[in-house]
Amino acid sequence: MFIIFIAFVVVLLVVLCLLILSYFDMKFLVSLALACIASIATSQPVNDDESLRLVSVFFRHGARTPELKDTYPNDPYKLDTFQPMGWGQLTNHGKRMAFTLGKSLRTRYHDFLGDIYIPEAIRTQTTDYDRTKMSALLLLAGLYPPAPIQKWHEELNWLPIPIQYDNEKHDHTMQRPNSYCPNYKNELDQQLQSDETLEYLKAHKNTFQYIANHTGKPINKLSDVFQIYQTLTAEKTMNLTLPEWTAKVYPEEITRIAAKQCEIENGNDLMKRLFGGRMLGKVIDNMVAKTEGSLHPHERKIFIYSGHEYSVINILAVLDLYETHFPNYSAAVIIELHYLRSRQDYAVKVLHVKDVFQEPIELTLANCDVLCPLNEFVTLTAKHVPKNYTAECGSPVNLD
Ligand SMILES: *[C@@H]1O[C@H](CO)[C@@H](O)[C@H](O)[C@H]1NC(C)=O
Ligand SMILES: *[C@@H]1O[C@H](CO)[C@@H](O)[C@H](O)[C@H]1NC(C)=O
Ligand SMILES: *[C@@H]1O[C@H](CO)[C@@H](O)[C@H](O)[C@H]1NC(C)=O
Ligand SMILES: *[C@@H]1O[C@H](CO)[C@@H](O)[C@H](O)[C@H]1NC(C)=O
Repeated sequence: MFIIFIAFVVVLLVVLCLLILSYFDMKFLVSLALACIASIATSQPVNDDESLRLVSVFFRHGARTPELKDTYPNDPYKLDTFQPMGWGQLTNHGKRMAFTLGKSLRTRYHDFLGDIYIPEAIRTQTTDYDRTKMSALLLLAGLYPPAPIQKWHEELNWLPIPIQYDNEKHDHTMQRPNSYCPNYKNELDQQLQSDETLEYLKAHKNTFQYIANHTGKPINKLSDVFQIYQTLTAEKTMNLTLPEWTAKVYPEEITRIAAKQCEIENGNDLMKRLFGGRMLGKVIDNMVAKTEGSLHPHERKIFIYSGHEYSVINILAVLDLYETHFPNYSAAVIIELHYLRSRQDYAVKVLHVKDVFQEPIELTLANCDVLCPLNEFVTLTAKHVPKNYTAECGSPVNLD
């Protein structure tokens, strides 16, 4: 039916073009003909936005001050540098990052979401941290500037939009699984003790010693370097001058070692399944429900998940798209469900926001297209999606 309609439109346009052309001389004719052809070409219905059905966004909070647990004795910067925010809190620059991500989502999804905020259209979930909750609120402020009829105070161009989170003790979805998924924790411990990891540690012995000497903190594990990375990066992003000793090992080497920890956390199919697979399973369930008309609420269009560096990494890892790196603040992975009228089928597109001030990059799953048919997307990722998370984790507590 639709194809016939398009064919009809094309024929109509061609006839129209020819009619117009007959009134002009040959010189003008060529350029007009080209313009006519171009207008026919762009009237094709292969428009991503028109076919969009559901969006899921995983993102890391904005730039922040260091965490007390990650600091080191010889750090020239103490708590007073980080006031009034305190430890582990968003900086003003960090707030702008999360807000900017929200604004770019507004630009991308304006037609899809519409002007008006409807509670059912969006669900936002965060971890139980101030910085992820605040980042979620800031993203929402950028995503939903009040439409004229929803503006409720002339001094404040902002709409309150609720967020959800589970208390840290009961967060079995967005929190790291180390604390509640015993089989994940065991596998991670084993991988951190594997011959390969021990070999890696040995090869970096001098660097570890160098960092230990200068920080005044014992550095024996990858996670020790991970903590130093977090502190130095937080400080550098605040434009604080880093101590001279860091120049030899930061950013390059320390970032590489910190990213090695991230790589190992997603180091095999079992770990991917018990880490990012948890959330990918939810994304797939939601997408499939959307295609079947059974998603509740029916009006739902977008899911926002506000988390940490691992929330971006583990979702890339279950898609086998993680190339070892440490994500920037407010980096994001977006999973879009499209309906392609030309194929009469649903397809999934994955986007990576590496830097919130730049355009997202389209990612392609191995053995699929940028627009990966939904059923192929499900098949290709099936090995990383747990069927019964509680059982696979070996958890004595029900995790659902
Ligand atoms: C660390 O300090 C010790 C003792 O001062 C010194 O012998 C060693 O060479 C230093 N190692 C590195 C890698 O800087
Ligand atoms: C740090 O400096 C850069 C370049 O001058 C600037 O763009 C950025 O906003 C500054 N960041 C902070 C947190 O002040
Ligand atoms: C972080 O952002 C910078 C600056 O835009 C970009 O060059 C870099 O590739 C990003 N890093 C990662 C790991 O994505
Ligand atoms: C998942 O596994 C747990 C523990 O083995 C079991 O109690 C539960 O009934 C299972 N759930 C489903 C939906 O099969």
